[in-house]
Amino acid sequence: MTKACCPGSFDPVTNGHLDVVERASRLFDEVVVAVLENLNKRALFSVEERMEMLREATAHLEGVKVSSFQGLVTEFCKQEGADVIVKGLRAVTDFDYEMQMAQMNKRMGVETAFLAAKPDYTYLSSSLMREVVALGGDIDGLVPPFVLARLKDKMP
Ligand code: PNS
Repeated sequence: MTKACCPGSFDPVTNGHLDVVERASRLFDEVVVAVLENLNKRALFSVEERMEMLREATAHLEGVKVSSFQGLVTEFCKQEGADVIVKGLRAVTDFDYEMQMAQMNKRMGVETAFLAAKPDYTYLSSSLMREVVALGGDIDGLVPPFVLARLKDKMP
């Protein structure tokens, strides 16, 4: 039985995240999508809201569950019995930081596997989605429709 962990802030989930989770679910028996509860960082959506959106977006995927964690992702993986962290790599700009985290997480006992982001989604990030919606721009097709609706609801 192989189990992977896809950790992230998911504030909110984008189609880029979902592509990585979907592909991970084909490679591993089980996938736990883990929302970081970062007490030092102000998020637009609460952890519960982020988990709800992830649950709705991954409901069709067998073997995928959604959870949250505080502290080290490696500790969460060990508690969950996840052998590997799966992350998407969008561009070279991601590489340095992701490599650093992967090497530190390996030192703490958990491997990382990178999936190359789908070309259509390499420019996506949650922060860009938030900014474009806040400024009245169109992000149709870049996040699930119910995420777009919730983003619009959050805007003043
Ligand atoms: O979506 P993000 O914000 O790019 O995800 C980053 C995340 C949550 C994967 C990373 O910040 C993380 O794993 N944080 C947990 C704390 C931790 O384990 N830090 C040491 C990493 S080497």
